[in-house]
Amino acid sequence: MILESEAMVTDAVLYALRHTPDPRLKTIFEAFVRHSHAFIREVKLQEDELQTAIHFFAELGHYTTETRNEMVQASDVMGISSLVALLNKPLTDVESPSTIMGPFYRANAPECDRDDSISRTDSHDPQLVIEGQVSSSDGTPIANSLIDVWQADPQGLYENQDENQPDKNLRGKFRTDSQGRYRLVTLRPGGYPVPTDGPIGTLLAAQGRHAMRPAHIHFIVSAPEHETLITQLYIDEERALIEDVVLAVTAPLVGQDKRRETAESDAPTGVVAPYYGVTFDFQLRPGVPSFPKPPIP
Ligand SMILES: [Fe+2]
Repeated sequence: MILESEAMVTDAVLYALRHTPDPRLKTIFEAFVRHSHAFIREVKLQEDELQTAIHFFAELGHYTTETRNEMVQASDVMGISSLVALLNKPLTDVESPSTIMGPFYRANAPECDRDDSISRTDSHDPQLVIEGQVSSSDGTPIANSLIDVWQADPQGLYENQDENQPDKNLRGKFRTDSQGRYRLVTLRPGGYPVPTDGPIGTLLAAQGRHAMRPAHIHFIVSAPEHETLITQLYIDEERALIEDVVLAVTAPLVGQDKRRETAESDAPTGVVAPYYGVTFDFQLRPGVPSFPKPPIP
């Protein structure tokens, strides 16, 4: 197509896409072209601004390494990850809310038994006992479901960011018992800033935004014949709960952890008072399990 005006560009690209064999990809490409071209027209994007945007996306690639995924962070801080999660698993009064996976999930976390601690250091930071039940939407407990958990340490660092933590520290996989119940021991996590030494830091500064995430613990909960749940538990004490940089907090995910001055009689072995405890249940939708690709190995 020989262009005669700016107005023809969008139709020319759509025409070029007409043989895209995969129908779903064709829908996505066409909508992307229509909406991105409309965005460019709305802001009348300048040539130097396009160069800035191209440089920004190239930098996202340059900063993505074996232990860091800057692309995931870009998706997160612009609310894209959160929007996709809520669009595909809308909030209901029954099922646990889905939320973003974030950039720090690793596959092959250590297999753990009930009451094991996922803290593999001699830290004296406050312990946190998390317990609850995994059930289906109709309330039926799900035995032998898999809970894959990972989190930052009390200083706000994941083990892959911190050479002082052992490999796979604060990561573990637990199975529910015959009643669908689980219990695990960990450390109370700290909130943390997303890394700001790369293009995401430049982006947040340009937008006048802080970089903090509230203290949280990540979970992927899976069971046969149920949709896999990717979610987080937030510890309810930080101001950042109302202004999470990745916009991922929904009310049901805010846990009320209670400080215990003395160990309860059935507390897991090795738990030392004072410690914290929280109950966090998971309700899974019937469906087909699927597993995300870890953003880092
Ligand atoms: Fe996180």
